[in-house]
Amino acid sequence: SQLDGDFKVADLSLAAFGRKEITLAEHEMPGLMAIRREFAAAQPLAGARIMGSLHMTVQTAVLIETLTALGAEVRWVSCNIYSTQDHAAAAIAVGPEGTPEDPRGVPVYAWKGETLEEYWWCTEQALNWPGHDGPNMILDDGGDATMLVHKGVEFEKAGAVPDATDDDSEEWKVFLALLRANQAENPGKWTAMAPGIKGVTEETTTGVHRLYEMFREGSLLFPAINVNDSVTKSKFDNKYGVRHSLIDGINRATDVLIGGKVAVVCGYGDVGKGSAESLRGQGARVIVTEVDPICALQAAMDGYQVTTLDEVVEIADIFVTTTGNRDIIMASDMQRMKHQAIVGNIGHFDNEIDMAGLARIPGIVKDEVKPQVHTWTFPDGKTLIVLSEGRLLNLGNATGHPSFVMSNSFTNQTIAQIELFTKPEEYPIGVYVLPKHLDEKVARLHLDALGVKLTTLTEGQAAYIGVQVDGPYKPDTYRY
Ligand code: NAI
Repeated sequence: SQLDGDFKVADLSLAAFGRKEITLAEHEMPGLMAIRREFAAAQPLAGARIMGSLHMTVQTAVLIETLTALGAEVRWVSCNIYSTQDHAAAAIAVGPEGTPEDPRGVPVYAWKGETLEEYWWCTEQALNWPGHDGPNMILDDGGDATMLVHKGVEFEKAGAVPDATDDDSEEWKVFLALLRANQAENPGKWTAMAPGIKGVTEETTTGVHRLYEMFREGSLLFPAINVNDSVTKSKFDNKYGVRHSLIDGINRATDVLIGGKVAVVCGYGDVGKGSAESLRGQGARVIVTEVDPICALQAAMDGYQVTTLDEVVEIADIFVTTTGNRDIIMASDMQRMKHQAIVGNIGHFDNEIDMAGLARIPGIVKDEVKPQVHTWTFPDGKTLIVLSEGRLLNLGNATGHPSFVMSNSFTNQTIAQIELFTKPEEYPIGVYVLPKHLDEKVARLHLDALGVKLTTLTEGQAAYIGVQVDGPYKPDTYRY
């Protein structure tokens, strides 16, 4: 069926390039391709209307086409204004059977370099479902699509959208304006949409935090699967994916030699561990900051100096925030940094670095070197290099994680979508992780490609350690 204008991407003529990279990626995504084969006949997602809000990259294209191969209808947006790969978005809109003149793929609203208004407009377009009140499933990364539905319902119930205050971020003001326009033009829209949504599968740490918070305060409207905390997601994508894509982003943005430099990594969770290893691999001297004594001790035992930002802010060359927390590097810190220090964030949102405070420094001058790379020059002539305006730099300055690691994450996503869509009775409102046997299955699907040969337990060994020969091999308390 033709798309009939129901999409918005940068340039459809990039579709052929996108398709070639999708074909290459498919070979590197054995888990997703195995799931396509396993469920080709059963079509478990027939009848699913999945709205996806996740970085529109080549890897995500393979996820989207896995969901449609299992029977789903899909509408898609990126979950970040800079993370779209325009050729991937074009290939998804055109589809394997279409042409740029006659696009026949999936309605996708995404391009690299959206404004905040465009970002929220796109998210709304993907939630608007022709012929229906909305999607019946959400696949989210960071929770923005889920938040739009929840806040939409909340403000409809309250009868009005609150006014923004001066302290609110630009993004929040834009968000409130969109909901205010909705209430005027389409009252009751979100209240009609929400009951049809069977559930959401959430990709990342930050989105998962939001879900548990809503569940605790009793405002969660539908069940959620926490994909992030599958072991084969957070212990792989967040760590090994970042190990690859952090330096990729820094290199493409600045091409500065990392070896010999002093790099500060704020946070030593999964993303921090991958970041520190990534920089150390290039020969940087890495210093870690942490608030959690366990992670701080881990960093120390892994051989990193652990200290406060305040101690090292004047001597480091590269700063990377990985905390998922706010206010990590403030304008007052940036004021003390060395000339041409590089400042970037790889956590989900842009509130880790105080960009608003930086812009307010009297006399500071911002200049664009190239898209997503800016210099900020202080009145005394000192310049900092800020990547992706403080948004996640591995997707803003490079192309995010490579296919093989994303195959693990997205195989979890696909299985989670099938679980929630086909077994709603097993998932009353709450936040769930996939059972261990499915986590192990995801790993298993990626072994052959790496030539891994597993050892098989004997019956006697299995009985001795109290597991089944075919797994699960660990209790849920095991932390890997
Ligand atoms: P995590 O919870 O494992 O790690 C965060 C660490 O930061 C924790 O150890 C915490 O103690 C520490 N921390 C918190 N406040 C701090 C402070 N003020 N100073 C120093 N350390 C502090 O979370 P994870 O999985 O590492 O994710 C971190 C962020 O990265 C999240 O926003 C997540 O959504 C995002 N993420 C980004 C990816 C990307 O490709 N850019 C991939 C995966 C996750």
